[in-house]
Order: sequence, then structure tokens, then C-alpha cells
Amino acid sequence: MSRRTALVTGASRGIGLGIAQRLAAAGYALTLSARREEPLLRAASELAGETEVAPVVGNLATEDDVRQLATAHEERFGSLDLLVLNGGVGSAGPVAEMKMKTYDLMLNINLRAQFLLIQQCLPMLRKGAVAHSSHGAKIVALASITGVAGEPNLAAYGASKAGLISLCETVTLEESTHGVTATALSPGYVDTDMTEWKREELGRESMLSTSDVAELVLAITRLSARAVVPNMVLTRAGEQIWRA
Ligand SMILES: NC(=O)c1ccc[n+]([C@@H]2O[C@H](COP(=O)([O-])OP(=O)(O)OC[C@H]3O[C@@H](n4cnc5c(N)ncnc54)[C@H](OP(=O)(O)O)[C@@H]3O)[C@@H](O)[C@H]2O)c1
Repeated sequence: MSRRTALVTGASRGIGLGIAQRLAAAGYALTLSARREEPLLRAASELAGETEVAPVVGNLATEDDVRQLATAHEERFGSLDLLVLNGGVGSAGPVAEMKMKTYDLMLNINLRAQFLLIQQCLPMLRKGAVAHSSHGAKIVALASITGVAGEPNLAAYGASKAGLISLCETVTLEESTHGVTATALSPGYVDTDMTEWKREELGRESMLSTSDVAELVLAITRLSARAVVPNMVLTRAGEQIWRA
């Protein structure tokens, strides 16, 4: 059986790097992507001792870069078993004051780019599903608990992630006959650079870890092609379930 391959966006640090590390240890050959070259190459060389790694620099806000990312994976590996839609951005602010430029950037990166990347990768995912028919090919998208339950100051971010959850459902409905299924993963606050602004208020020890999230991605890859998890909510311990 041919080796399995994965494409992980936002893989230079945080949750994406944690997922890439687990996938490398599980034997996946990897295409890793991020916007800034230096941290991406550092992450890629860290994993190169374990597996074959192709770093691809690109900005998810740029349509050509998204298309080029899928092409780069296809030219190197031919097919795809796991697409991890992780790269994303978050800005906070009340609806009353949010600048539309900030809104547009978030929706563009967190939803439009994800839609386009899925579209570009579907032919490769269908090939992967044929090659590894017992497990099929999977898409895992990093959504957020704010896409499930609204959170003050996170309206645009939450809306982009709610859209991503819906997108995953529809992709499964349309593609599962080809062996391709999609899962949204919706965590509360995870301790990464993105949540630095919350560290003082919440404390790092109260946040989820990147390995909590990576663990669930690995679990999804182990499911048979017949099993679908539409959305997985991962909440923080404490007295409230539906809050970030
Ligand atoms: N941290 C949380 O609490 C949390 C909770 C729920 C969901 N999530 C979601 O999980 C995902 C990862 O979050 P994280 O906390 O690991 O974020 P992070 O630490 O800020 O890392 C973001 C990653 O995405 C890349 N990236 C950012 N903007 C990009 C762009 N325009 N084009 C291409 N790559 C870009 C970054 O690299 P460059 O800067 O070099 O591009 C980096 O590799 C995001 O989708 C986020 O919304 C996070």
C-alpha cells in the first residue's frame, strides 16, 4: 500500500505544528504551509528526520497562493489522504466598532480560502480515498467553539468559523460517496500565540493544549470511511461548557 500524505496549513507554529508533529510520527509524508518562510523552514527541518516534508510558503489571503499550494502537493505526492485546514486568523472587537477591513480579512482567510483549498484538493482527496479505501480521505478544519455558541467580541471570527462548520457538513454530503469526508474541530481557547491576549485574564494553565487538539485529529484519521464526525467541540474544564 502506498504511503499516506497530508497537507497542513498554518503548520509553522501553534496547533498546526502540533498536528504536523503527530502526523510525522504516524508516518505521513507532509506538505506544510505558512506565510512566513523562516519559521516554516524551521518547522520543516525539525520534522525532516522523521518523514518526507515539503514546505510551501504562501498567503491564504491570496487566491493564487492557495491554488499553488494544492498544485505543489500534487506535483510532489500525487494524491492526498488528509487535508488539515488549520491556518487562520482572529481579531476581537464588538460588532458596533469592528472595521469592515478587519471583518473582510477574517472571512477571506478563515472561510473563502478554506473553500477554495478544499475545491483545489478534492481531485487529490478522491484519489487518496481510492488508494486507501478502508479509511477514505479526510478533511479536518480548525473551526472554533465560537462557531457553535456566540461569544462577545468574537462575532466576525465566530461567523467565519460557523461558516466553516457548515462547509464541512456539505462537503461530507457531496463527497462521501467518493470516500471523502470532512470534520470541523471546534476548540475553546488553546494556548498558542493567537491567544496571547487572553493569557493574563485566563492563565495559560486553564487553556487547552495543542496536543489535546492534535490527538483528536489523529483519532479522525483512524476512523473507517463509513464513519463521519461532523463537528467535534473541545471545551475547557470549568463551570461553563459553551464558552471559549
Ligand atoms: N488558539 C486558539 O485558542 C484557537 C481556538 C479555536 C480555533 N483555533 C483555530 O486554530 C487554527 C490555528 O490557530 P493557532 O492558535 O495555532 O494560531 P497561531 O498560533 O496564530 O498560528 C497560525 C498559523 O497560521 C499561519 N497563518 C496565519 N495567517 C496566515 C495567512 N494569511 N496565510 C497563511 N498562513 C497563515 C501562521 O504562520 P504565518 O504567521 O507565518 O503565516 C501560523 O503557522 C486557526 O484556524 C484558529 O482560528 C484556535
